[in-house]
Amino acid sequence: MSVHRQAKRISVPQLMAYKGERKIAALTSYSAPFARLLDEALDMILIGDSTAMVAYGLPDTLSFTVEQMAAHAAAVVRSTEHACIIADMPFGSYQQSPQQAFASAAHILAASGADGVKLEGGVTMAETTRFLVERGIPVLAHVGLMPQYVNTMGGFKAQGMTDESAERILQDAIAHQHAGAFGVVLEGVAEALGRRITETLDIPTIGIGASPACDGQILVTEDILGLSGDRIPKFARQFADIGSQIRLAVEQYANEVRDGEFPRLENCFGVKK
Ligand code: KIV
Repeated sequence: MSVHRQAKRISVPQLMAYKGERKIAALTSYSAPFARLLDEALDMILIGDSTAMVAYGLPDTLSFTVEQMAAHAAAVVRSTEHACIIADMPFGSYQQSPQQAFASAAHILAASGADGVKLEGGVTMAETTRFLVERGIPVLAHVGLMPQYVNTMGGFKAQGMTDESAERILQDAIAHQHAGAFGVVLEGVAEALGRRITETLDIPTIGIGASPACDGQILVTEDILGLSGDRIPKFARQFADIGSQIRLAVEQYANEVRDGEFPRLENCFGVKK
């Protein structure tokens, strides 16, 4: 009799229980090969709408669609079995009404099998968080620097630098907690604010350019692996330089091709002449 070990994915309640126990390690992934490599070491993988900028070379995240998200999220879910998988809600797919948000989130989850969604927004979006959570959709809120607000913020700028805006961001996070969010991403906020929000909330905070006091960290995978060229945010430490290795490997491949060093069919498939 063969014994199959049932792979067990980290659930949203498990992620929540890590608060105060251990830090949550999270990265983005947009594709099957990366997700497969990241899965075992991580607690959470986010299919961020940063896919638009990182994978499609777009200047911002605004044109990314629900269908694109569903396809990328499905690829990530298919190739993982351990990390909790969260998919971003694309711009324009949830801001109009809680009902619109539910339809978009339900489509992304049904098409991909992801465990929950992330949405950007302050106090005004908390009603949408509540609507989704009450209907069975786990929500990770995203406050502080919100890339989908690039046009109202006038660029990708650190937030919460005045007492007034720091207080507003704290209230944004509290509102999402009260609405049932399972966690809050804090992006681009000062260290003291990240610490204050983390100490105030009962749910985990996941920082990106925030504070080491946060309950976890998420970064864009390409930024820490040397795959983002010179567009690496200051807070993203580079853990490897895969970019240089790819360049060298491709150069070697191209040279071999030009030298006529192709593998022969009979060596590959055991084809007899
Ligand atoms: O879109 C994204 O990748 C994100 C994170 C990096 C938090 O929102």
